[in-house]
Amino acid sequence: MYQSKIIGTGFYVPDNIVTNDDLSKIMDTNDAWIQERTGIKERRWIKDGSGETTATMAAEASKNALKNANISKDDIDFIILATLSPDYYFPGGGVQIQDMLDMPTIGALDIRNQCSGFIYAMSVADQFIKTGMYKNILVIGSEYHSGGIDKTTRGRGISVLFGDGAGAVVVSRSDDDSGILSTHLHSEGKFADKLIMEGPSTKDWVPNIIARNNPDEETYFPHMDGQLVFKNAVVRFSEAINEGLEANNLTKEQIDMLVPHQANLRISQFIQKKFRLNDDQVFNNIMKYGNTTAASIPIALAEAVAQNKIKKGDLVVLAAFGSGFTWGSVIMRW
Ligand code: ACO
Repeated sequence: MYQSKIIGTGFYVPDNIVTNDDLSKIMDTNDAWIQERTGIKERRWIKDGSGETTATMAAEASKNALKNANISKDDIDFIILATLSPDYYFPGGGVQIQDMLDMPTIGALDIRNQCSGFIYAMSVADQFIKTGMYKNILVIGSEYHSGGIDKTTRGRGISVLFGDGAGAVVVSRSDDDSGILSTHLHSEGKFADKLIMEGPSTKDWVPNIIARNNPDEETYFPHMDGQLVFKNAVVRFSEAINEGLEANNLTKEQIDMLVPHQANLRISQFIQKKFRLNDDQVFNNIMKYGNTTAASIPIALAEAVAQNKIKKGDLVVLAAFGSGFTWGSVIMRW
């Protein structure tokens, strides 16, 4: 069996910065409420008419990751794209990356696991590398939320949280003893309706929604039971981290860097306190980008690497929780 490791990271966010004050001009909200509850100061939202999409952002992040890894697109064996906001109902976005980067006709897989999507994608990549099937895999998380959220006061409980962006990593066969030690994945579908976008779907096709012609229709906007999500998130984040540490006979004191899914700064701070980690042991950038779902961990990881906050030999822990519910962790020796 081989070991896999991240050899390059990259990210891309749209230029358009939307501050909390900007939001207060279009809905009944304010900077104090948003910062106090979520830690978010601003987020990036694709500008209407810019032509940017989940796939274009994923392609830009991928180019940056390939450059950082110093590897050619032609050396990539497989593409994995995690997103809840693909450009099309079908086909998935992985094939768009293959085309946009002019890659050989390699396999492309889409992962639909929302905020945990990048953790699931890393786990899949790890298995392919371990078995020797592939040597270099491009793993991407990309999300275009701003086009599909309710930007009125009705939707303020959700719309202020989410941002657009993409992050990518190159996962390759390790040539030393660094790399992924283990990955851990979980789900609990009984909570599927607690963080959901119901329509359009095969249970409620677009023609049905159009036929109802109901201006108060909300099924095609995300719905979240915020407090229930929060309560489950803090428990599951902790479990996933502990499970990863125990599987490798490690203790929380040995964590050099925790990169949590950027769901809410309050969740990250709760976990930091629970695990008694210092500020330099947890990386957060939700203040600048909001919650970018499957993109949040690879964006944060790329920024942490660019800021030299992760050094060779560090024990790095990735953890996420989100819609499904799904949650999980990745434990790596950098
Ligand atoms: N601005 C101002 N007021 C607001 C806003 C807003 N943007 N949103 C809601 N409010 C109001 C509500 O209407 C409510 O008013 P009321 O008391 O008069 O009825 C009040 O603020 C409190 O609302 P709550 O929803 O109870 O606020 P809460 O303290 O629970 O905070 C939040 C909401 C921030 C969403 C919190 O529940 C949370 O962070 N939950 C976790 C979210 C999360 O982590 N999601 C990650 C997963 S995302 C994914 O997987 C795709």
